[in-house]
Amino acid sequence: MKGVVLHGGHGTRLRPLTHTGPKQLITVANKPISQYVLEDLRNSGIKNIAIVLGDIMPEKVKSHYGDGSKFGVNIKYIYQETPEGIAQAVGLTEDFVNEDPFVVYLGDNLLKGGISRCVQEFRQKNYEAMILLCEVENPQQFGVAEFDKNGKLVKLIEKPEKPPSNYALTGIYFLKPTIFKMIKQLKPSWRGELEITEALQLLIDSGCKVGYRIVEGWWKDTGTIEDIIEANILVLDELEPEIEGIVEDKTCIQGRVSIGKNAYIKKGALIRGPALIGENTIIEDGVYIGPYTSIGDNTKIKKGEIENTIVMENCIIEINTKIIDSIIGANSEIIANEKGPKGHKLIVGENSKIVF
Ligand code: TTP
Repeated sequence: MKGVVLHGGHGTRLRPLTHTGPKQLITVANKPISQYVLEDLRNSGIKNIAIVLGDIMPEKVKSHYGDGSKFGVNIKYIYQETPEGIAQAVGLTEDFVNEDPFVVYLGDNLLKGGISRCVQEFRQKNYEAMILLCEVENPQQFGVAEFDKNGKLVKLIEKPEKPPSNYALTGIYFLKPTIFKMIKQLKPSWRGELEITEALQLLIDSGCKVGYRIVEGWWKDTGTIEDIIEANILVLDELEPEIEGIVEDKTCIQGRVSIGKNAYIKKGALIRGPALIGENTIIEDGVYIGPYTSIGDNTKIKKGEIENTIVMENCIIEINTKIIDSIIGANSEIIANEKGPKGHKLIVGENSKIVF
């Protein structure tokens, strides 16, 4: 079985973070989202993987993953010049897939528990395709499954006004090369994209067996800023505490906190977990790091309070008050003067400098 990771799209809902790179490289708990995807594929025994790159700084993806050997996989890169839909991106992988069954995994999807049981089931059953469904409260915003009275999947409807069920299609599809025939028949949808739901519908309509499984843990599609902050909460909820850096006496570490190699937590700092402090990061005296906060590598928190926030690598923060529910892109500096405002909710793109 092969793997296909979609790493394109424009990620307009995540600007300014996507001005300087693809959204799938945004870090959640200090790891790019697509790295969770790659590791899930590898842990399920899938080592031959194609990454479909988009046109937003694809070189950043290649420089992070290389040939895949660092991650225990073999990677081939395929370019999608313009984001004309998930089905169009999948269509580009026909030569790579060849005769094999394969998994398509959207590079911005996170799945607790991973796909290994689905991979086993797809290997054993005689399905032409298998989808992974998740019960959601707002099915209008997703592709939604309709079943007959025997529970057989009969229809997939993209963003329905009147959803036939609460079961949304996740971004993980188990496929066989027959899907390519269906993709070739597609016409662009109202939003100008080739839709994978329509290709799957063609499979169902032509009498092919299309199976499904329901997600047991959580699934998160990280399309918006709120989704990313929530994904950080979900991942940190399972954090294994580990202290590898230096923690001075008279520092207060509460709850599940993980501190990376060579990090330095100075006396008088308070870190309340779940929280993650990256490698070589310095937390100064008097700083408060609150629950559900990830601080990236090589960062200095000189002053201030930070809660429920992602701070990416190589940042400097020196503020008088509090940052909450925020995402701070890599290489940014946030500096506040004495008379600055009392609290901040910030979405800061990479390489920014903010002085209040
Ligand atoms: P979307 O979130 O639907 O699209 P987008 O990335 O363009 O985001 P936005 O709506 O904010 O502008 O994409 C879902 C996933 O599929 C995501 O991982 C990007 C990937 N994708 C491609 O690789 N190629 C494509 O042509 C499209 C549309 C998406």
